[in-house]
Amino acid sequence: MSQFVLSSFRGRLTNNVTKITFKTFLFRPLLLSHNFSTTTPNNSIQNITVYGSGLMGAGIVQVAAQNGFKVTMVDIEQKFIDRGKEIINASLKRIAKKQHKDDENAQKSFIESTLSNIKTNTDSLKGAENSDLIIEAIVENLQTKQNLFKKLDESANSNAIFASNTSSLPISEISKVTKRQDKFAGLHFFNPVPQMKLVEIIKINQTSEDTYQSLIEVTKKMQKTPVTCKDTPGFIVNRLLVPYLLEAMRLAERGDASIEDVDTAMKLGAGMPMGPFELSDFVGLDTLKSIVDGWRKDGKIDAGLVASVKKLDNLVKDGKLGRKSGEGFYTY
Ligand SMILES: NC(=O)c1ccc[n+]([C@@H]2O[C@H](COP(=O)([O-])OP(=O)(O)OC[C@H]3O[C@@H](n4cnc5c(N)ncnc54)[C@H](O)[C@@H]3O)[C@@H](O)[C@H]2O)c1
Repeated sequence: MSQFVLSSFRGRLTNNVTKITFKTFLFRPLLLSHNFSTTTPNNSIQNITVYGSGLMGAGIVQVAAQNGFKVTMVDIEQKFIDRGKEIINASLKRIAKKQHKDDENAQKSFIESTLSNIKTNTDSLKGAENSDLIIEAIVENLQTKQNLFKKLDESANSNAIFASNTSSLPISEISKVTKRQDKFAGLHFFNPVPQMKLVEIIKINQTSEDTYQSLIEVTKKMQKTPVTCKDTPGFIVNRLLVPYLLEAMRLAERGDASIEDVDTAMKLGAGMPMGPFELSDFVGLDTLKSIVDGWRKDGKIDAGLVASVKKLDNLVKDGKLGRKSGEGFYTY
């Protein structure tokens, strides 16, 4: 199943219909309603290694470094590391300007102190030496993730916690190649990581309480809000969001209302920052389709909720993938 970028639903959307800066956040009540216990974990995390320097990996590295963790960013080739560094530099500059408007020295020192916490490595085993927490944000492929964790299980510190940022693969499947399932969990960040406050912590049956508490502590230190979920398809956010997007498409396909009116209705009547069609285009229609196809095949979600939608299938077949291809439900 391809990568799942559905988490990028807050931000700036520009299309030929409208230009909106989203200030509200639909799921805020959900984010505030956690009830974690406050046990202190035995092992406090200081050194983090992030595998993958793409969109998500770079974001996780940045946020960890900004909040005082020593972070190693690992990728398979230097050119990917360089791209990750560019993502981090551009984002840090934006944040520095926003936080320290007229103070160039403060901007510089914020950027320098964050960068001083980041090391990079293209040697996958060396990158995890001395690491307390390993966060994997590499390509969305079960075999590739398993290969990485299998190798790391043999070489990494025996106390190190392993976490995957997968959006769509079962954490239990990824973790089963290791002998440390008690130290394994999902840590699902949202795109763009520096802006999105939520992290879903995915517990498998074997995840120990100490591992769980360490992950809560680490996400809070990163100034994120953790929520907890079992290892279930789509976890919380995507499990609710994808069926909703499909239902909007079915409603329009039946001719009950136009896509523009559905978007307007959900923004003005339900307080959504984006309408479902704007959001689907923003996420990428191919991504959405691959998630739904995967869930249908998997059979774990009620068939009616993941029934295919002709319009979505046709748009993808015609290469109309949403904003990234210039056309989807809207033209950009
Ligand atoms: N893009 C999103 O919005 C989003 C949101 C939440 C979660 N995720 C998940 O995060 C993960 C990464 O997504 P992304 O969008 O950052 O992908 P990406 O394609 O931008 O980056 C993946 C990076 O992993 C590197 N890589 C591949 N194999 C590697 C290995 N063995 N060791 C080290 N690096 C390796 C690649 O070179 C690439 O730089 C996926 O599991 C995806 O499902 C994505």
